[in-house]
Parts: sequence; C-alpha cells; structure tokens
Amino acid sequence: MRARFPAVKIIDIFDGLVHYKLDGDSHGLEKIIYFNNTFFVLKTMKGKQLNFPALVGAVCSSKNYFLVNKGSFRIRFVQENQFAKVDKSLTRRAEEYVAANSKLKLDRLSPTNEVWFSIRREGFSFCGELITKREFTEKNLNKGELRPEIAYLICCFADVSPEDTVLEPFCGYGSIPVQLAKKFRFKKLFVSDADESKVSMTAARKQLASAPQGLIDCRTADALSLKHIEDNSISLVITDPPWGFYEDIGDISAFYKKMLKSFARVLAPGGRAVVLSARKEELEHCAAECGFEIKDSVHTLVNGKKAGVYLLMAAS
Ligand SMILES: C[S@@+](CC[C@H](N)C(=O)[O-])C[C@H]1O[C@@H](n2cnc3c(N)ncnc32)[C@H](O)[C@@H]1O
Repeated sequence: MRARFPAVKIIDIFDGLVHYKLDGDSHGLEKIIYFNNTFFVLKTMKGKQLNFPALVGAVCSSKNYFLVNKGSFRIRFVQENQFAKVDKSLTRRAEEYVAANSKLKLDRLSPTNEVWFSIRREGFSFCGELITKREFTEKNLNKGELRPEIAYLICCFADVSPEDTVLEPFCGYGSIPVQLAKKFRFKKLFVSDADESKVSMTAARKQLASAPQGLIDCRTADALSLKHIEDNSISLVITDPPWGFYEDIGDISAFYKKMLKSFARVLAPGGRAVVLSARKEELEHCAAECGFEIKDSVHTLVNGKKAGVYLLMAAS
C-alpha cells in the first residue's frame, strides 16, 4: 500500500484494521479498494478502559469537520466488530451533536451515511464517518468467483508491468482479467478456462469486451496443455486454479504438477507465476518438485479458507 499510494502514511495496523492518514484529495480513497469499510476519522482514543460514554463525550466536546456533509445519517455503536446496544440517551447525545455540527439529517431507518463509534479489543477506539462500503457482496458474485479486491491485490502482488505478456488460464468468471484490464497495463493478455460458458461470460465483461483489438485473447482451453500458447512466450502467469474443495478434479497434487509443468513450458526465461491456493502444502510441495522456487508469498483468508498467494520462478 505504501508503494502504490505514497500519499498514505500508516499510523497503526491492527487485526483487520489499518489507521492511516491520506495527504491530499480524499477522492484518492476510491482507488484503495481492498477494505470492506473506510471511515473518515473524527476522533481516536487509546487505553484499557475505553467505553462509549467517554468516546461520545470526547467527540461532542470538540468541533469536527464532516467529510460527507450531504444526505442523512444514523449512529452505530460497535464493540469488538459487533453492533452494540447502548443507553438511548447516549445515542441521542451523539445524534444531536452530528445534527448540530453537520448538514446531515437524522434518519434511523435508511440513511445515506453512518457515523460509527467503535471500540476494539486492542485498546483502540474511534469515531468515524463511514465513507465507503464494500462495493460487492457475495450476492453480486457468481459461485466460486473471486472477490474483486482480492483479484486486484493479487495483480498488485504480481507487479504487472507494461512489458508483460500475461496468462490467466483458470479465469472462471474473469475476476483477475477484469482487474488487469481495468487497473493495469500489459503487452498482451491470454485468458482461458476449460468451461466454455464461463469463458463466454468473461469475454462479455465490459472491461474485456471494450479492450483494444488484439490486446486480449479469450478462449476455452485446458490449462494443463495450453495448446494455443507457444513455448517460452509468457512473462507472467496470474491465476486462481481449482483448490479441489468445490469441484471434482481428482488428486490435487497430481493436478498441480500437471499445471506447473504446463506453466514451465510457456514461461519465458525469468518469467514468473503468481498462484492463489488454499491447498498451500500441496502447492508448495509440487512447486519444489516441478523446479519452481517460492520467491515470495502472502497469506490471507479467501472464502473463509486460509489461502496463500505465491510468487513462483524457475529455480536457478
Ligand atoms: C477457482 S476457479 C477460478 C475462479 C475465478 N478466479 C473467478 O473469479 O471466477 C477455478 C477455475 O478452473 C477451471 N478449471 C478446472 N480445470 C481446468 C482445466 N484443466 N483447465 C482450465 N480451467 C480449468 C474451472 O472451470 C474454474 O473456473
């Protein structure tokens, strides 16, 4: 994040929460898409005995600027990531303060904005305006489709450059190619999947359909053979292969070995493969067996499973 957003200064990192300062235009926040919720912070407090009356009192005793100052609001109290009930008089005090110090109108049922008073278990609390919410919920995604922010993070991790010839051979519904087409520059992108219906849906996504002619090749293909890709022609594979939990692909290690042999054939010397999998042990083992070295990895929860994103390169 520091490298991509030099205007961001990280103040603190907690489990699932980053407290940062953004110097400059707050519209820059829209580009930081990988957080579920982003708040414009009015007040923070630290200490062991944090409580809502103290936090509300601290906010109400100072003058605050509201970044979003149009529409309606409601107040929410959150204790250790769960919405909490507090005394009505405390809610009223907070509501009256926001109503008197901003142009926002109170609407407890369906407001356009929310002001949160949040207490966390690490001895940190904050009051903030919820300014961006997660754009996609699971309901907007196809079954098995990767969340867009995870796909975006994988592309950041892969450090895609305009000189890269990129291959995504397990594209599914196209989460990774969509992020590549939307936010990165590359020389050429090969996109494929064994499932014809998913390939049609991917090809129809507007970011791919509107790309300049010849930039993106999208087709049905078996990733284990990749007959349409020449030897040593790809500089970067970015992919989310099957994990063998949701689909019947037989022995996952045998599958990963065939997959990595296929990648080894198409990768140019110095080429890299960025692979997401929750079958971490199997992937790590197969990578070593197939002559790849793990140069870097990051680990995160994906669909509730502990997954890793691996940067693999031919072992020297
Ligand atoms: C984990 S899903 C990819 C999900 C994708 N990232 C998305 O957002 O939709 C794995 C994909 O591998 C495809 N697949 C399975 N075996 C394959 C093979 N041998 N060659 C190519 N694709 C294959 C499946 O059809 C599935 O779409």
